[in-house]
Amino acid sequence: MNDTPAPDRFAELNRKNEEALQGGGPDRIDAQHKKGKLTARERLRLLLDEGSFEEIGKFVMHRAKDFGMDKQHFLGDGVVTGYGTIHGRLVYVFSQDFTVFGGSLSESHAEKIVKIMDLAMKNGAPVIGLNDSGGARIQEGVVSLAGYADIFYRNTLASGVVPQISAIMGPCAGGAVYSPAITDFILMVEHSSYMFVTGPNVVKTVTHENVTAEELGGASTHSTKSGVTHFACANEVECIEYIKKLLSYVPQNCEEEAPMLPYTPGDETRPALNDLVPLNPNQPYDMREVVDGIVDEGTFFEVHRNFAENIIVGFARLAGRSIGIVGNQPAVLAGVLDIHSSTKAARFVRFCDSFNIPLLVLEDVPGFLPGTDQEWNAIITNGAKLLYAFSEATVPRVTVITRKAYGGAYDVMNSKHIGADLNYAWPTAEIAVMGAKGAAEIIFRREIAAADDPEAKLQEKVDDYTAKFANPYRAAHRGYIDEVIKPEDTRRKLIRAFKMLENKVDTLPKKKHGNIPL
Ligand code: HXC
Repeated sequence: MNDTPAPDRFAELNRKNEEALQGGGPDRIDAQHKKGKLTARERLRLLLDEGSFEEIGKFVMHRAKDFGMDKQHFLGDGVVTGYGTIHGRLVYVFSQDFTVFGGSLSESHAEKIVKIMDLAMKNGAPVIGLNDSGGARIQEGVVSLAGYADIFYRNTLASGVVPQISAIMGPCAGGAVYSPAITDFILMVEHSSYMFVTGPNVVKTVTHENVTAEELGGASTHSTKSGVTHFACANEVECIEYIKKLLSYVPQNCEEEAPMLPYTPGDETRPALNDLVPLNPNQPYDMREVVDGIVDEGTFFEVHRNFAENIIVGFARLAGRSIGIVGNQPAVLAGVLDIHSSTKAARFVRFCDSFNIPLLVLEDVPGFLPGTDQEWNAIITNGAKLLYAFSEATVPRVTVITRKAYGGAYDVMNSKHIGADLNYAWPTAEIAVMGAKGAAEIIFRREIAAADDPEAKLQEKVDDYTAKFANPYRAAHRGYIDEVIKPEDTRRKLIRAFKMLENKVDTLPKKKHGNIPL
């Protein structure tokens, strides 16, 4: 029998708890703050509902012995893990502690992350990772690499089962980037986070390029050039606010629906939409204004805002219901589909479909972007991703054609033919194989060339083609368009449409999994 008095046991526990809270110690915490960064625990305090955090594995330590590691131990081993709530909803979290061995990933550190991922899968709740790490724990070698692989494997198994969100709040380099890359959303903090497979030094050696870490893999680079990150946040507080907002639009898991907010019906007519589309088909307008005219006020939460801006994607609410929106953006490159816009939209469509979020498509698309750059970089394969993503989506799917719906892009953008439930068009819609001028030049080439006044003949043919095809009625006669509606009625129609579709059941043919063109 142990005769140590209970109060001493309690004191020991208090001491250990206090020690764990200190992470790598006050000096390293100071250094973290001086870099403008919060600590792992401070971040969790901002993220989770007050008092809701329950820590798991607080006293875990590494088991390494080489390089003097047997004499260096920190309770928790560089990552704080557990569960808590955000707006009352359960989430699992891990927050890497840069003050302990630079947040590097040891075998034990990985085991802690794996433990909460397994719990998240079994209990059906999102996983949020706050990344701030020097990568593999160099002193541990292959067991650290094994730990990463254990996490990657679970990221993959959890994909489409529970939402996974990665915030990058410091370094994230080497193979470590592949865990966030598999998750659903990445958020990066401007000027204090970076992600790359190989850093500036290796780049200089191999390709002789001089580039800073920020230029190579900072938030700005990844939110505009590569599209690796979905959100670039001004600071850590904003980053955490974005995570909370993002979660408010998504369900806990693939078996559930996103939370519905209370909504009081009112006058749903929006006359301002009537004047939005310019009569001249070559004049741009901002599709975001269409979105704002349709959804509940101030609810559009754009994803990938600064990447492939010729398409917009994001979440919004319609009569309190969470929906995903994909819209061509006539204000950028005339809203053309290219490689980046196709992959951006395809990934968003697949996220929404995985998590039962209905899709609204706003269409004004002149076609696919021509050129050697696009063809040699596989616009064929990449455009096919969007076509495939829409075709296999079984959530409620509604399209509104505001203006152009030309060529293959008409088919791709959630047409009736690939399974959309309801397709509306505004009277300004032009549904055709191509624009009137291009069409006239091809099919009347000889007639135009032989004319006394080729210019006048071309114009005559353009007018003729426009009158026949630059409208929504040919498609409506065929039933490809279910209804031609006035812009001002769009919101009212869509509220009813998504309500009508809320119990939709649709299944795909039995298969192991499809083979989306990658
Ligand atoms: C062990 C590490 C570490 C690591 C940092 N530290 N990275 N310890 N393993 N990977 C420790 C440092 O020794 C230091 O300890 C403390 O963390 C803070 O590091 P500093 O260098 O002082 O901080 P800073 O100047 O801000 O630089 C941060 C850094 C740098 C850029 C991340 O530390 C760095 O380059 N680290 C190594 C990165 C790396 O090569 N990792 C392996 C990548 S390969 P003290 O005791 O002084 O506070 C990889 C493969 C994954 O990750 C494969 C998955 C498939």
